[in-house]
Amino acid sequence: MEIKIDPRIIKSISKFNLPTKLGFGKTLAPVMISCSYKEEKWGTLNLVPYEPLTLSPTAKVFHYGQEIFEGMKAYRVNGQGPYLFRPEENQKRFNLSAERMAMPTLPEELFIKSVKLLTEYCAPFIPDKSGDSLYLRPFMFATEEHLGIAPSNEFKFMVVASPSTAYFSSDALKVLIERKYVRAVDGGTGQAKTGGNYAGGLNSAIRAKNLGFSQTLWLDSKKREFVEEMSGMNIFVVMKGKLVTPSLENTILDGVTRRCLIRLAEDMGVCFEERALGIKELIEAIQTGECSEAFACGTAVIVTPIEGFGEDDGTFYKIRSKGESIGSRLREKLLALQEGREKDVYGWRHKVSLSYGEKASEGGVEI
Ligand code: COI
Repeated sequence: MEIKIDPRIIKSISKFNLPTKLGFGKTLAPVMISCSYKEEKWGTLNLVPYEPLTLSPTAKVFHYGQEIFEGMKAYRVNGQGPYLFRPEENQKRFNLSAERMAMPTLPEELFIKSVKLLTEYCAPFIPDKSGDSLYLRPFMFATEEHLGIAPSNEFKFMVVASPSTAYFSSDALKVLIERKYVRAVDGGTGQAKTGGNYAGGLNSAIRAKNLGFSQTLWLDSKKREFVEEMSGMNIFVVMKGKLVTPSLENTILDGVTRRCLIRLAEDMGVCFEERALGIKELIEAIQTGECSEAFACGTAVIVTPIEGFGEDDGTFYKIRSKGESIGSRLREKLLALQEGREKDVYGWRHKVSLSYGEKASEGGVEI
């Protein structure tokens, strides 16, 4: 694998100042990764300044949406790290998404090297408050100029980084039960992390916002009877003291955070079930008080509590919480592992060495 470090990055990095107010995904790191695919081969991995792209108006991504992405984070809290967390899981899911969207897969080494290299060079800009991080966004899109409906023969893989806080500020989420539109269908692209899945949910996001909600709850496409997920995050509820999350089928994104929480809950002795979760069952459990908690999880949102669920007509089912929250225990445990505050018995945390960064400050390198 050939790696090229653009000498202009030294200037970009030295000019960059981390703002005091960050938010999520608003501040972009001054460098990024770019790698092209042509003639069935991946080319050089380039670390370049963050800058606009030049693309043909007929690049297939603009017309047929051949695009995939991942979300992952690097942590550097209290001078620890930088750490990446289970990057190989993102790499595997990236390739599953690529296969579903008729795109070339990326060699594991290329994906991992890219996120490590970018983390190294961005290490000085990783915010150090617990819950904050460097959000990494690997993505790939079709660049071939051609209006025919056929898979592109040319692609670009990129990674950008954003020093960020968690996706939501501290408030618990009010969630709109979406009874009309659906996010994914059996046999569709719901399990792939592709832009179209998110674009298709945006009209519902607007409706939810106008009705005073912060998120949409997606139900199954066949009968609108079962809870699936929320836009960009998975969902857990606590019913009769048991932690429950919808089983994946092929319409729900297999979240890395979701998988971590299942493992952590099991190891913490929390009674857990992965199964079909009826929306009627959930509403009844909230009304009888048997549902004592619900929370959303995802790389960007970490673990965020849900206040309740509502309908278009203004009906709101507010969850009556009882005592200690399982979600906050899981959130604390997960963050302690991610941020290096706790011994990692799972082998999930990967330390990123800073050798390239040191060499770069001497005037640029080619590795
Ligand atoms: C993530 O958690 O990384 C996501 O993909 C959510 C994102 C769409 C904001």
